[in-house]
Amino acid sequence: MAPDTLLAERGLAQVESVIEVRGLWSAFPVPGGGQVVVHKDLDLTVHRGEVLTLVGGSGTGKTVLLRQMLGLNTPAKGTVTVLGRPVAELAGPGAAARVGMLFQQGALFSAFNVLDNIAFPLREANALPEELVREAALLKLQMVGLKPTDAHKMPAELSGGMIKRVALARALVMDPPLLMLDEPTAGLDPDSSDAFCDLLRSLHQELGLTVVMVTHDLDTLFALSTRVAVLAEQRVIIAASVEEVLAFDHPFIHHFFLGERGLRAMEMLRDRKTAAPGTELAKGQ
Ligand SMILES: Nc1ncnc2c1ncn2[C@@H]1O[C@H](COP(=O)(O)OP(=O)(O)OP(=O)(O)O)[C@@H](O)[C@H]1O
Ligand SMILES: [Mg+2]
Repeated sequence: MAPDTLLAERGLAQVESVIEVRGLWSAFPVPGGGQVVVHKDLDLTVHRGEVLTLVGGSGTGKTVLLRQMLGLNTPAKGTVTVLGRPVAELAGPGAAARVGMLFQQGALFSAFNVLDNIAFPLREANALPEELVREAALLKLQMVGLKPTDAHKMPAELSGGMIKRVALARALVMDPPLLMLDEPTAGLDPDSSDAFCDLLRSLHQELGLTVVMVTHDLDTLFALSTRVAVLAEQRVIIAASVEEVLAFDHPFIHHFFLGERGLRAMEMLRDRKTAAPGTELAKGQ
């Protein structure tokens, strides 16, 4: 099915690009001379309202690509446009109002309690009086399924799933239209991972977010993706629906989706579709 049809099916008929990456080169100097080229002439478009999942082998540059789309790395060549503006203009105060980011390593401030972690971007932007900052942070805390009694807990007292939820609340505290997730379910047990996927799915729909996600986890990929972009040979070799990606002939895709792990995940997906034919999964989610 064409990506646009998929979007239209989900009530997201107005397809516009939110991010455009054109001719991107990313390179890092190597100690002792020379450089390692991570991306070479890479193109990628992210459509409004979709969940675009980036996959690729370890070290292929998924995190670097997210960082390029956040303006945290500088392209050696090429352009990155986010919400119609050069990504360099995203940086600085108020950036969290445009893009929320859930980092691969969780990254809560260990000396701050839950509420202060969530409130951090608001305080940094100096956008609201303290009373409203606390109110907004408490609202987001509840939006991600935590209780007001969790507000004063310290990061060391939280489970892995709770840490992800706090990091997500912090990413969303300024109501950005765009959310980036780097391995959102890594390190979670299967139940917490499913619960976190359910949360992401409902927030994506309720808030009308555009999401760019990196994941190695096939359950997460099948549960959430509108489209999948595959990173290999230093570029995006295909960005399309899961079905089209599965039909694309490339060794990484065979290994990733059709290895033992992939077949198991697809079997589970088929079982879930058969068990609940009226669900969103059955409609091709
Ligand atoms: N600041 C940096 N300086 C030098 N090299 C870097 C830097 N950041 C990333 N790299 C290199 O870029 C390559 C891609 O790294 P990246 O973290 O994007 O991989 P990844 O696809 O996210 O991998 P994983 O699946 O393991 O998270 C790696 O070879 C890494 O060592
Ligand atoms: Mg990474």
